[in-house]
Amino acid sequence: MYLTIAALSALIAAVKAQQVCTNTAETHPKLTWSKCTTSGCTSVSGSVVVDANWRWTHLTTSTTNCYTGNEWDESICTSNEVCATKCCLDGADYSGTYGVTTSGNQLNLKFVTVGPYSTNIGSRLYLLEDDNTYEMFTLLGNEFTFDVDVSDISCGLNGALYFVSMDEDGGKAKYTGNKAGAKYGTGYCDSQCPRDVKFINGVANVEGWVPSEDDINAGIGGLGTCCPEMDIWEANDISTAYTPHPCDGLTQVSCNGDECGGTYSADRYAGTCDPDGCDFNPYRQGDKTFYGPGSGFDVDTTQKVTVVTQFIKGTDGKLSDIKRFYVQGGEVIANSASTISGISGNSVTADYCADQKQVFGDEGSFEDHGGFSGMGDALAAPMVLVMSLWHDHYSHMLWLDSTYPVGSSALGAARGSCATTSGVPSDLEKNVPNASVSFSNIKFGPIGTTFNSDGSTDPTDPEDPEEDPVAHYGQCGGLTWTGSTTCVSPYTCTKLNDYYYQCL
Ligand SMILES: *[C@@H]1O[C@H](CO)[C@@H](O)[C@H](O)[C@H]1NC(C)=O
Repeated sequence: MYLTIAALSALIAAVKAQQVCTNTAETHPKLTWSKCTTSGCTSVSGSVVVDANWRWTHLTTSTTNCYTGNEWDESICTSNEVCATKCCLDGADYSGTYGVTTSGNQLNLKFVTVGPYSTNIGSRLYLLEDDNTYEMFTLLGNEFTFDVDVSDISCGLNGALYFVSMDEDGGKAKYTGNKAGAKYGTGYCDSQCPRDVKFINGVANVEGWVPSEDDINAGIGGLGTCCPEMDIWEANDISTAYTPHPCDGLTQVSCNGDECGGTYSADRYAGTCDPDGCDFNPYRQGDKTFYGPGSGFDVDTTQKVTVVTQFIKGTDGKLSDIKRFYVQGGEVIANSASTISGISGNSVTADYCADQKQVFGDEGSFEDHGGFSGMGDALAAPMVLVMSLWHDHYSHMLWLDSTYPVGSSALGAARGSCATTSGVPSDLEKNVPNASVSFSNIKFGPIGTTFNSDGSTDPTDPEDPEEDPVAHYGQCGGLTWTGSTTCVSPYTCTKLNDYYYQCL
């Protein structure tokens, strides 16, 4: 009998599944960004789409919910397949329901939005190329730059900009059960192999679903969805980190139950992805005055800051370095150097990752799932740009901005100055509902094309090149470099590739 029903629903699924409904028209907010080459940048007209998980999910035939709060209606959703045939994702009221607004090249995400039907918490958006296709970025050998304003998000909140190896159509072609696709923000995956995703590979995640005990909007199902993740920016006004997370595979795959590993599973390290990553957080690497609110910090988080990330290729054509610069007040600020004994440098390299894992005594999952070279392979393939604002029901974001594990005095446990009691979701929702983050002025192109290494904003700025000698780890040359080519003593300007010379 079960087989008969399964066979029947598979048949229906082939015709009709994970539907779309149009009670609200899906109108993607426009967001412009810049594609750069050595001869300059040109504006691209893009748009953003909110992830499917945030959407109203109801019967295709009526306005009856398939999913409410943190529970599926099991009288409708009798199985993953049946649920996908009966239920649809609806269009989004971006500003009214989700607190998402755009203006020109700027995206604003508000933390709590009280809408007519619901109170929305946070959001996750993807950049689209057109209404049905995500914009795809191949990061290896290129540079990604954006401006961010974190002045209004503090302890416990995370305004994140990152890349994941999702399918460009949201999985619509690969999984016939998925009729919604990128237009409705489907196909999410990341290195935690999240199990709170409501539809995965064209079926619902109702089988085995357990509603969260402390999150009125979420639960965990029997399926998870995995793929490599490059966190360019996870931050609030206290701490920031950039973190590669490789996986065994290079594309999205589903996983089952606790075998998924990651945050949502009993054994964090049971899966095919690296949930920890190899992070560079200036505070965790020993520089406690590099990033924070006020002029006492090198990067002042009370002001907007430009964040530059370079995915540098070595002479072998493989990823050699993930480099970070900041630009603020017309000045280029090199990333802080690690001051932890045994971990050197100011960027994420294979050596940095190996040293960090050893010195901090962290798990070996980064290396187990491909390590730096595996991440290089993922970055050589197209990835989807994600921008989100979230809080953390699992560890209160303490891994980013406080001491974690709580009470630990081990090297690597101090990640930021937030109290270990901060970041409690219900406190944040009550105390800082109006918090928001903005991302703007996204630029992408070959190394050296998205920002002026002398800090000026206009490439034709006639101002004399900066003649002050460059600090340790700073840039001192390269094809598009117009700044100083001398290093402070005792460092030497060393060629890493045609576009990048560094004081080492
Ligand atoms: C959030 O903003 C709304 C609308 O401006 C205001 O009424 C409310 O008091 C604010 N809440 C807090 C906690 O600041």
